[in-house]
Amino acid sequence: MTIRRMNEADLPAVLAIESSSFPEPWTERLFREELPRDDRCWLVATTDERVAGFGGIMIVGDEAHLMDIAVGPEGRGEGIGRRLLWALAGEAVARGAMRMTLEVAESNETAVRFYASCGFDVAGRRSGYYPETGDDALVLWSRPLAPHVSAIEAARAGEDLVLAIETSCDETAASVMRGGREELSSVIASQVDFHARFGGVVPEIASRKHTEAVVSVAEEAVQKAGVTFGELHALAVTRGPGLVGALVVGLAYAKGLALATGLPLVGVNHLEGHIYAARLIDPDLEPPFVALLVSGGHTMLVHVRVWGHYEVLGRTLDDAAGEAFDKVAKLLGLGYPGGPVISRLAEGGDSAAIAFPRAMMRSGDLDVSLSGLKTAVIQYVEREREAGRGLHIPDIAASFQAAVVDVQVAKTLTAAVDHSATSVVLAGGVAANPALREELRAALAQHGIRLSVPPMGLCTDNASMIAAAAHDHVKLGRFLGMSADAVPDLRLDARV
Ligand code: KG4
Ligand code: ZN
Repeated sequence: MTIRRMNEADLPAVLAIESSSFPEPWTERLFREELPRDDRCWLVATTDERVAGFGGIMIVGDEAHLMDIAVGPEGRGEGIGRRLLWALAGEAVARGAMRMTLEVAESNETAVRFYASCGFDVAGRRSGYYPETGDDALVLWSRPLAPHVSAIEAARAGEDLVLAIETSCDETAASVMRGGREELSSVIASQVDFHARFGGVVPEIASRKHTEAVVSVAEEAVQKAGVTFGELHALAVTRGPGLVGALVVGLAYAKGLALATGLPLVGVNHLEGHIYAARLIDPDLEPPFVALLVSGGHTMLVHVRVWGHYEVLGRTLDDAAGEAFDKVAKLLGLGYPGGPVISRLAEGGDSAAIAFPRAMMRSGDLDVSLSGLKTAVIQYVEREREAGRGLHIPDIAASFQAAVVDVQVAKTLTAAVDHSATSVVLAGGVAANPALREELRAALAQHGIRLSVPPMGLCTDNASMIAAAAHDHVKLGRFLGMSADAVPDLRLDARV
C-alpha cells in the first residue's frame, strides 16, 4: 500500500468510495474546490495503483480538522484507514498542528470504535448534526499529534523505546524495551508473600500493594534501562483481563505519565502479552501458530493467524490450570502459589501411583474441564485419611500433575494438527511447569511441530511481554485515549 497526494484523476474512484460510505456523501464539486487549497491536505491510499481509501484535513491555526476519511468495501479491516489517519496526522504536524479533531455520527459504531482505538477522546456532542438522519455527532479530539507520529515512525524503524506497566494480578512490573524485542530492563515487585497466608490473591491487598510500588518500579525500570523519561516513545499498560482494582492502579499511573509527558499510551491485553513472551526468545516465530495459554486465571487454546488476530479454539469450562494447581496445593497444605511446589514435589513421585481422571479427552472439541480432577484429589485425600493411611504427597503431586499435563498435551496436539500449525507457543504461568514443557515438546516433535516456550521468568507475569506486544500496536497506530477504562474481562478476540 502506498499513500500519496490526491489529484483530480483520483476523483471518480474517490467519489465511488465516498458514496458507498456515507448517507450524505460529498459531491464532486466540493472535492474540486478542496484540492488546490493550501490549508487543506487530501491523501489517497492505493493498492496495486487502485485507490483503496482517502482522507482529508483542514488546518485551522494549530488544529487539524479531519474532514473526511473513507475506505472502499474491499479494503476494510486491512488497517488502511489507520494508515491514512496517521499519514494525515504527519501532514498536520508538518503544517504546525498540535492536535486533530473531528465529528463522527454517534450511530456509526465502527467509526466511533476506530477513532477510540487511535487514542481519540470524546470531548462533546452536537445534537441533530446530521440533518438527513437526525443523528447526533460526537466531537472527538486526538492527544498531542507529534509524539504519536514520531512513535509510529520509531516503531516502524524498530527503534521505539516503550515503557510498559503490568499490574493485572499480584506482580507490579515495569519494563523498557527497544523495538519490541530488545529488553533494556525488567523490574518485578512480587506481592506473593502478602497473599500467601490467605492461600490466594486478595484483591484489596493487591490494589494497595500496586499503589505502593508502581511509581518506584516504573522509575527503576527507566533508570536500569539507562534512558530518561524524555527519551521514551510510548507508554504501554495492561488494560485487562485481571483484577479491576489492580488494573486501574497501573492504568491510572500510565495515564498520568502520558498526560504529563504527552507520550502516546497503548493498552495491551494481558493474554496477548503472554503470547508475545514467546517472540522475545524465539525471533523466528511467525504466525500462523497455535498457542496454549495456561495461567492462574486462564486456560485456552488460541489460533494466531497473524500477530494481533486471535481466534479462541477452546477453553476451560471451569477451573484454570494454575487455579487447579493452587487449589490442590492448598488442600495438601503446601502454600501459595501451588504450581512451583507441586511440580518440585512431583519430581520425586510416581505419576502412575494414583489414577486421577482425565476429563473430556474424547469430547470432540478443544475445551477442557479441571474441576472434576480437583474433586477427585479431594476425595482421594479424604478416603486415605479416613482409612488412617499416611499420604504420600509426592505421588499425589505427580499423579495430579500427570492428569493435567495429559489433557493439555492431547488437546493442544489436536488443535495444532487440525490447523496445520508448524509451531505451537506455550505461554502463561503454568508454562513454567517442566513436565508440561517436556511432554508437549515430545508429543509435538512426533508430528514435526516445533514448540516455542519462554524461559521461566517470562512465563509468569512480567512487563516485558506487555512491551513486546505494545511495539506492534504502536507500529499500527493503535493507542488509548485518556478516557479509556480498565476492562477486567477483556477478551482476547475483542475488537477494541
Ligand atoms: O500467568 P501467571 O503468572 O498469573 C496469571 O495471569 O494468572 O500464572 C500464575 C499461575 C499460578 O496459578 C501458579 O500456581 C502457576 O501459574 N504456576 C505453575 C508453575 N509455576 C507457576 N503451575 C504449574 N507448575 C509450575 N511450575
Ligand atoms: Zn498472567
